[in-house]
Amino acid sequence: MKKSVNDIRQMVKDGEKISFLTSYDYLTAKYEERAGIDMILVGDSLGNVELGYDSTIPVIMDEMISHASSVRRGAPNTFIIGDMPYMSYQISNEMAIMNAGRFIKESRCDAIKLEGAGEQICERVRAIVGAGILVMGHIGLTPQFTAQLGGLKAQGKTAEAAWRLVEEARKLEEAGCWAILVEGVPAIVGKAIKENTTIPILGIGAGSHVDGQLIIYADMIGYYDDFTPKFVKQYCNVGEIVQKAFEEYISDVKECQFPDDNVHAYKIKQEEADRFEELLKEKKGK
Ligand code: KIV
Repeated sequence: MKKSVNDIRQMVKDGEKISFLTSYDYLTAKYEERAGIDMILVGDSLGNVELGYDSTIPVIMDEMISHASSVRRGAPNTFIIGDMPYMSYQISNEMAIMNAGRFIKESRCDAIKLEGAGEQICERVRAIVGAGILVMGHIGLTPQFTAQLGGLKAQGKTAEAAWRLVEEARKLEEAGCWAILVEGVPAIVGKAIKENTTIPILGIGAGSHVDGQLIIYADMIGYYDDFTPKFVKQYCNVGEIVQKAFEEYISDVKECQFPDDNVHAYKIKQEEADRFEELLKEKKGK
């Protein structure tokens, strides 16, 4: 049965850690659901991982909607969160509600996530929550704010910066977020955020004390190798397996080892084959 936000909250209450992975397509989502993942994020990391951009900035809503819809088709029973891309919510409350609503209405996501903190972001959170949509906050290393952060760097590395993150988390909770994702902070900062809030706190590179762990699926299976953050644990090397398969295929085609007509080709009854030979001879003579 499909997990609801209440199931996720109950898991946190029971002390059961939440497993959380990104997905951007039907096939990956299908395998994640089969494996029993608790939640899927259709992240705007789509930009790097699937679309080949050098950041998440160029990703547009239509791309997110299309990919989130395919993820929903692959994982019909999983709690899915759509990630609001750059400039889909910053401009106005109306625009934020409209784009958040598209994730729910067109892609059948269960919730949305947006990056950032501060009064303006809290205002957007209140507006989207007011429209009846579940919002996950995202603080710490927030890729859409890379320019202001001075690069993709771990955050909360001074006592003051760490405390600011705790305050941001509290404000996002007050604004109505049902959960917060904390990215790229020291483990003690993840712990402090968890201890100073009452909603589910998920982490990606935020240590082990938070309620659950997110990782970019293509990092943990060794598929995306342009850049691998320090906090990634790699469970297999799909990139190597896939490349080897492609190389073997190319070699088979070049050396006429594929296809084998006894295995990989359609058959015709002998009687039809004989008639066909006759027909070919007859037509050739004309
Ligand atoms: O887009 C994404 O996948 C994310 C995670 C990296 C946190 O926001």
